[in-house]
Amino acid sequence: MDNIVRIFDTTLRDGEQSPGATMTTPEKLEVARILARMGVDVLEAGFPAASPDDLEAVRRIAQEIGSSSADKNCPIICGLARAVQRDIDKAWEAVQDAAHPRIHTFLATSDIHMKYKLKMERSEVLGRVADMVSYARSLCSDIEFSPEDAGRSDPEFLYQVLDVAIRAGATTLNIPDTVGYTLPDEFGALIKGIIEHTPGIDRCIVSVHCHNDLGLATANTLAGIRAGARQAEVTINGIGERAGNTALEEVVMALQTRRQILGLSTHIDTTQITRASKLVSNYTGISVQPNKAIVGANAFAHESGIHQDGMLKNEQTYEIMRPETVGVSQTSLVLGKHSGRHALKDRMISLGYALDEEAMNKLFERFKLLADKKKNVTDADLEALVSDEIYQP
Ligand code: KIV
Ligand code: ZN
Repeated sequence: MDNIVRIFDTTLRDGEQSPGATMTTPEKLEVARILARMGVDVLEAGFPAASPDDLEAVRRIAQEIGSSSADKNCPIICGLARAVQRDIDKAWEAVQDAAHPRIHTFLATSDIHMKYKLKMERSEVLGRVADMVSYARSLCSDIEFSPEDAGRSDPEFLYQVLDVAIRAGATTLNIPDTVGYTLPDEFGALIKGIIEHTPGIDRCIVSVHCHNDLGLATANTLAGIRAGARQAEVTINGIGERAGNTALEEVVMALQTRRQILGLSTHIDTTQITRASKLVSNYTGISVQPNKAIVGANAFAHESGIHQDGMLKNEQTYEIMRPETVGVSQTSLVLGKHSGRHALKDRMISLGYALDEEAMNKLFERFKLLADKKKNVTDADLEALVSDEIYQP
């Protein structure tokens, strides 16, 4: 098993399934372009059978972003298909012009999905997986298969389904926690069990695809990776169905920040993360919560006096990664009612004011009065306070 975790981005497919997240084809191309520049290994560009527009968007991404003439390191371009011939044909039609095309086909394997949604017996599911994976493989050499709702499937049945998929030609086996139900220990154990009990799995890449219904998508993804998965399926800003998918930025930065413990890396240029986050947020209209890990507006902001003082002495006191590594120009020390004298003095110096002790004391008093009334004290507020201080002693 190697130590590279492949990043499979599904912002344009599962992410676009977020309520209201629909993007136009030019917007999708723009997002695909930044994902390629960022270095994602696989770009799931859409679900071509869903609509003619989806097919067209995937085709253009395959031709314009995924063609070898554009860039020799261009990502694999993937199209999703249900395990039915028509979907697989549409997926192939859309991705075939890519330098590295992939068809991703899926079929549910949990008892609840098979009984109520598919109305299929286990034996029928096994037969359909064999037929449709081999059909997809007759068109394309890179086939991913997902047993949908694997997180709630009987593991013994999963081993059988995956064995059939491998024999039929699947090259990546993706294990989805479709409804975000599992706990990290459980999901890690599921991946470990699959690796130990599925014949021939060592010839394939095992992938994880987690949803965030219990806020555990990143933890589950990391548990799966620690158990041996070497592909993580993620979206920018964690957008996706219901509570969303695993966030790309969280997994990539966890692997990078804790690489000494984990011993794993990705091909991602992390400095593109903030730009991609903003682009996806603008195009989908889904704003990023301020306290969102890595890409939230407050992710590198410090307000309390104790933290600001620590940061001014040594950044590592309260920062586990430098903001520049994700494309944020610098840490921000937000001046508010929790800020202390050290941060105020530092800001005044950067604004060009070298105040003596007495002037600083007076300014600090007035700053605290203002900060009680105002959430953030801006540089303009400070300029006003200090000119009052200087000109009206
Ligand atoms: O969540 C899910 O099960 C999916 C599959 C199509 C992989 O998105
Ligand atoms: Zn999903």
